[in-house]
Amino acid sequence: MIITVPTTPYTDQKMGTAGLRRKSKVVMQKNYVENFVQSIFNVIGDLSNKTFLVGGDGRFYNNIAIQKIIKIAAANGVKKLLIGQKGLISTPAGSVVIRKNKLNGGLILSASHNPGGENGDFGLKYSNETGGQVPSSVSDAIYQQTTKISEYKICDDSDIDLSKLGSFEYCGMQIEVIDSVKDYVEMMQNIFDFNAIKKMFANGFTMRFDAMNAVTGPYAIEIFENILGAPKGSVVNFIPKEDFGGLHPDPNLVYAKELVDFMFSDKAADFGAANDGDGDRNMILGKSFFVTPNDSLAIITDNYKLIPHYKNGIYGVAKSAATSTAVARVAKEHNIGYYEVPTGWKYFVNLMDSNRITFCGEESFGTGSSHIREKDGIWAVLFWLNILAATGKTVEETTVEHWKKYGRSYYIRFDFEGVDTATADTLMADLETKLPNLINQTFGDFTVKEAAPFVYKDPVDESITKNGLIIYFTDGSRIVYRLSGTGSSGATIRVYLERFSAEDISQNPLDMVSPLAEIALEVAEIPSRTGKVKADVIT
Ligand code: G1P
Ligand code: ZN
Repeated sequence: MIITVPTTPYTDQKMGTAGLRRKSKVVMQKNYVENFVQSIFNVIGDLSNKTFLVGGDGRFYNNIAIQKIIKIAAANGVKKLLIGQKGLISTPAGSVVIRKNKLNGGLILSASHNPGGENGDFGLKYSNETGGQVPSSVSDAIYQQTTKISEYKICDDSDIDLSKLGSFEYCGMQIEVIDSVKDYVEMMQNIFDFNAIKKMFANGFTMRFDAMNAVTGPYAIEIFENILGAPKGSVVNFIPKEDFGGLHPDPNLVYAKELVDFMFSDKAADFGAANDGDGDRNMILGKSFFVTPNDSLAIITDNYKLIPHYKNGIYGVAKSAATSTAVARVAKEHNIGYYEVPTGWKYFVNLMDSNRITFCGEESFGTGSSHIREKDGIWAVLFWLNILAATGKTVEETTVEHWKKYGRSYYIRFDFEGVDTATADTLMADLETKLPNLINQTFGDFTVKEAAPFVYKDPVDESITKNGLIIYFTDGSRIVYRLSGTGSSGATIRVYLERFSAEDISQNPLDMVSPLAEIALEVAEIPSRTGKVKADVIT
């Protein structure tokens, strides 16, 4: 049954911020998936004692890719695969299953929040035994393999039915089709005060959770409606669809429009939330109120004592450099460890494994803790519900009180999309050369204090990562520039703008950062180099 197939390398199989992400049509090319998966197995080496998890966000081509992975795994002598029922598994649930069952790792098929379908995106992430994505040293070795691969092994047998739970043997390999909802729910029950949240719903509290036709639907129905007693209909768009029903499953003010319109209408629920395609991102809303992910991380950290699992103390907190400094002020107040890392969840893994941090987050709607090694959308939603249940306050009250205590970091991200790759690379390189000359220069009310590339030295493995350029101003404001590492074509220039105010907490964020935006565009010469006078997406 096992055959060896000759193949030729693809030159573009280098993993980005979160695994390999490409247009579906690219991934559908002959042997594209086969080459990549075989390269991963080549790097791992001996597979005879190894068990892996396979599953994904259910997008277009997932099922075809999963069947290929099963056949290649069997042919390469993998001992066992755990596979999510119907091929589904959210990114956080995948991390739970890998850790709980002490697996050797997993292949998670997801392009996260990117649109799906034949004309959308496809993705494949490789996690190791930590339940987190492999470090750059491993992804680099896999990339090297992909550039010289000449054959792959595959089991020439029929496809497997993944709709039913159970264990069986396939081509000499064990397979177990699992229900990941159970393990995930159990973990959430061990972290949060489900009784308090249940009581809050019983007393008439209302919520709307938008699963955006993606993978979190089944998890959300079980947790929010079935267990916690939120009224039926609280979870919407809960059936995972191959093309996300045409939605762009990115939980932000632009793409989660249906939820945002509802929460800003007079029918709004007390609490609103959305998750992304693979369930690791979250957006938190109150009645006519939006909590930025930056503030959410700060508020979560500040309130850790309200949550059963964390009440006895937390190690520390980390954020990506591009994320606002709101959480830094909380870390200082609580006298806990504080770290700034490059963009990408993998940089938090060593900090968690070495007990340096408990919480972490990114401005891109990612929040999480050391309960797993990925960000976790439903976890963040439950954290907020638990805070509200414990304090009896609204989302808005909670956030405004936080600003009154700590001040407010007004924060907006500008994305310039579809930029020619060479233009973007040159823009960043030229800006980097310019940075030293900016120090002490004044632009209107703002004076540059420091300007430098962001360079991170991992305290555990001492690896060095350079990611993005930062301009710091004397008043605490910052401009961060970086190129996206998750796009499937062209380049996206991200410009992150932050302006701190200790007392003036009720201004419009866009108005507050607009002088910084002007400086950012001018200094990097974005309009003249890209032809774009305005950002394509403002979040
Ligand atoms: C984006 C986000 C980043 C996040 C990643 C995966 O990466 O900015 O924070 O970790 O998606 O969800 P980027 O496209 O900026 O490289
Ligand atoms: Zn995601």
